Amino acid sequence: MSAPKLSANEFLAAAKYRRTVYGLKGTSKVPDSRVQEIVEEVLGFAPSSYNTQPVRVTLVTGEKHTQFWDIVIKTAEPILKGAGEAVWDKMSGIMQSHKASYGSVVFWEDTSVTEAAKKTHVSYAHMFESFGEHATGMNQILVWTALELEGLGANLQHMNGIPPVEEALKKFLAVPASYRLRAHLNYGDEPAAHSETVPAKLPTSETFKYVN
Ligand SMILES: Cc1cc2nc3c(=O)[nH]c(=O)nc-3n(C[C@H](O)[C@H](O)[C@H](O)COP(=O)(O)O)c2cc1C
Repeated sequence: MSAPKLSANEFLAAAKYRRTVYGLKGTSKVPDSRVQEIVEEVLGFAPSSYNTQPVRVTLVTGEKHTQFWDIVIKTAEPILKGAGEAVWDKMSGIMQSHKASYGSVVFWEDTSVTEAAKKTHVSYAHMFESFGEHATGMNQILVWTALELEGLGANLQHMNGIPPVEEALKKFLAVPASYRLRAHLNYGDEPAAHSETVPAKLPTSETFKYVN
């Protein structure tokens, strides 16, 4: 297979185009079938340790997406209220704005794959928990970037930070008990022109070292 007709600089420019976009609309200029195609394409080539492929994805749109967020909000409410009214006030507004977006690409790790890999690769068993996270992260960045190149906006959420939310979402989406929620990508049409401004980063003098 010859290399695609895309330079490394073009690839990096495409990757750099991806942004966290909030305030998404409840519409999508990209049909669900195309989003599905992108997710399936990514699942078909993204890397995983020893090619064990622990990543699973659920695409949620339409009324089911609204219900998804209703469940998140209802389940999170007592916990966030327990952290203080100010926390609830802030978070409920944020969650309502996510609920108003169009859809979610939900990334899971099938821990039965991770557990099997621990047995197959015994000397590296201690690494597979983090390998599962790495693998889902690689799928996340690829899907996130591809959806934005198609003209959508997206933001990455971790409602699994509240364990009962993860349990409720697993039930709602009818996934196997072995699935662990890793992240979900809210997406929809952008509320304004796409920002190409990269948030400030540390100087590379702090983050990079060349040794030769
Ligand atoms: C591992 C990881 C976890 C993140 N978790 C969240 C999150 O839970 N909620 C959120 O709104 N953004 C989340 N983000 C988005 C970051 O806040 C965002 O990527 C960062 O501020 C840089 O902005 P950019 O995405 O526009 O480059 C996460 C990003 C990464 C890589």
